[in-house]
Amino acid sequence: HRSPVITIDGPSASGKGTVAERVARVLGFHFLDSGALYRLTALSAMKAGASLDDEAAVAALAAALPARFRDGRVWLADEDVTDAIRAEAVGEGASKVAALPAVRAALLERQRAYRQAPGLVADGRDMGTVIFPDAPAKVFLTASAEARAERRYKQLIEKGNSASLADLVADMQARDARDTARAVAPLKPAPDALLLDTTHMGIETAVQAVLAHYASCE
Ligand code: C5P
Repeated sequence: HRSPVITIDGPSASGKGTVAERVARVLGFHFLDSGALYRLTALSAMKAGASLDDEAAVAALAAALPARFRDGRVWLADEDVTDAIRAEAVGEGASKVAALPAVRAALLERQRAYRQAPGLVADGRDMGTVIFPDAPAKVFLTASAEARAERRYKQLIEKGNSASLADLVADMQARDARDTARAVAPLKPAPDALLLDTTHMGIETAVQAVLAHYASCE
């Protein structure tokens, strides 16, 4: 008997990270932020001076990633990189290294190892399709590119950064296109996923919808 998994996939800034974390907290489940693993891989490649399209070199870094997650902080060896991995450049880099099959293969077992009692909420792009295809409850969260760009815009402004909404919409569409068009593990809903469009939905409503879906799958 395996521990249950709730997979929450979707495009960037769809709110899935926040929703997944809250669902995990409500249920007392473990939480996997798989995007952070791709961000950490990109950051270590950048630090090592490796080219982001050197598949063998980046995959070797991914396989040996000295990553630790504790109390909401993310560590790469002895360095707290919680903020560093959220930089736009690292997100861009993550999306590039995530298109390399050897990198995805190198991170596969590490992600599956998060499936532990009493259960797991896994956030990403391919949680329901590739990493946990047998998950009892799958959700695909979407929102329009405009709505997602607006959310990102608000976050940036709140943190005191400057941002252009038009640039953010364009970045969002470019990232979506790359994640959707790539040959390995493209961003797409698992056939058995619940589709949740959050364009006009608050976080709390989305959390309740995921919990209700999980309850109906048990
Ligand atoms: O979710 P987040 O924005 O942190 O992910 C960063 C990038 O990592 C995404 O743009 C995507 O290309 C990649 N990713 C992925 N598969 C996952 C999670 C993230 O390809 N399961």
